[in-house]
Amino acid sequence: MSSRIFTLLLFSICSAFSSRVLVTFAHDFDSHINSIKPFFLKLVERGHNVTVLDTSSNPKPRYFGPDVHVLPIYLPPKGPKPAHDSFWIVDTASHHLPPLFAATDRVLGDIIEEHKEKLDTVLNTTWDLIIMDEVFGLHQNAISYKLKKEKNVPYIVFSTTITWMSNYINNAMGRFSSSRIGMFVPLPKDSNNFWNPSNFMHRISQFIADFREYFGICYMLSFNGDLDNLKRIASDDFTFSKFTKQSAFHLNEQIDRLPFAVPEAADFKSIGAHCRTPNALSRKYLNFMNDLSSKGTIYVGFGSTIDITFAPEFLWKAFEDTFRNLSDYRIIFAYGGERKMDVGKNVMITKWAPQLEILYHNATMLFISHAGLKRPAKTSRDRSVISIFQKYGTGRSSAHRPNDQTLLACSTV
Ligand SMILES: *[C@@H]1O[C@H](CO)[C@@H](O)[C@H](O)[C@H]1NC(C)=O
Ligand SMILES: *[C@@H]1O[C@H](CO)[C@@H](O)[C@H](O)[C@H]1NC(C)=O
Ligand SMILES: *[C@@H]1O[C@H](CO)[C@@H](O)[C@H](O)[C@H]1NC(C)=O
Ligand SMILES: *[C@@H]1O[C@H](CO)[C@@H](O)[C@H](O)[C@H]1NC(C)=O
Repeated sequence: MSSRIFTLLLFSICSAFSSRVLVTFAHDFDSHINSIKPFFLKLVERGHNVTVLDTSSNPKPRYFGPDVHVLPIYLPPKGPKPAHDSFWIVDTASHHLPPLFAATDRVLGDIIEEHKEKLDTVLNTTWDLIIMDEVFGLHQNAISYKLKKEKNVPYIVFSTTITWMSNYINNAMGRFSSSRIGMFVPLPKDSNNFWNPSNFMHRISQFIADFREYFGICYMLSFNGDLDNLKRIASDDFTFSKFTKQSAFHLNEQIDRLPFAVPEAADFKSIGAHCRTPNALSRKYLNFMNDLSSKGTIYVGFGSTIDITFAPEFLWKAFEDTFRNLSDYRIIFAYGGERKMDVGKNVMITKWAPQLEILYHNATMLFISHAGLKRPAKTSRDRSVISIFQKYGTGRSSAHRPNDQTLLACSTV
């Protein structure tokens, strides 16, 4: 899409009239919608009518404030939930992605069978714009594709993590597997084991990982019948490549041009993570952090997706021992689990912590977190020193970057 049409689109959305906006996101997953939230709240603030389609295994619909409409579709979980410790032991690789997509096609099948009226409501409403999450919910692709085809409704794809290689390829973005860190690099062997484009094995393994992702998503899914429900709604001619080309815009939270230079495209914008202004820290934290005997604060938080209660025992012990040993430092550990930690008074354990405010405080020296896909974007805007704690699962590439590269992103945001 040319930038002139986009400007026109933005102008009409932002100033001329109140538009009806549909927001969709990954099925049954909190993380992504929280990234999109500042964007749609801004639209609401400007007088637009925003409806969030919330497909979830939680019977309680999400709430985004009094001015945001939520259309809940409750889908009780089928089959066992993933094990609690799966994030600590499953070594995710690019060939695990197509089955995740296939699973959300089955979710769409359930929506079609069990919630036909709600789906019809969405499909029959006259929307002015759709904002959708990039991954993990093929219902979004189906709805956007159909409404674009039949009613010419524009859709914006919001990428809330590292952009997927298959999306880069479908966008013809010129990101080469052999010259950049992908999403699924092998686990680093030690702290000097950074991804290095001059290492032939690094390049070839990256190429294989990206190829498996692209081939799996863009060819095998359709071949295996794993897009059948999507095609029931969208149309038989659906392909990810067409879908990508027809999108009005791609917004990307990751600053993907660091540390390597990359080509640009007019309808692909790296917007960076949303950065709010920190509030004042409450007395409880100030007293703890400003203690004169402290050499500095270490903040430890794994976010909402990773629960360290289920980490292997040696890791839990390592944290306990290290916390005890660092008695000259104040440690704030955001942990909502049940397990009691055997540590001294230098450690404050709290179910929830004002993360941004703690990271902004001058006494904070280190942030220990997990290497999720969104972490570099989040942390870098928080300005603090960061240490990426390696875990299995997604987010390898953050651990493969030297910290100074992440910090470089920080000063640029
Ligand atoms: C806003 O959208 C909701 C849901 O689509 C609808 O029920 C409501 O009537 C709309 N409000 C206005 C003022 O258009
Ligand atoms: C939505 O539209 C379809 C056909 O386009 C129609 O069959 C259906 O009755 C409509 N549903 C509602 C709730 O208006
Ligand atoms: C903690 O300190 C003790 C004694 O100084 C040392 O033996 C132990 O290795 C330290 N543990 C860690 C995790 O640093
Ligand atoms: C941190 O230090 C800077 C420079 O020394 C100072 O301007 C700022 O007020 C301090 N901020 C806090 C929260 O203490």
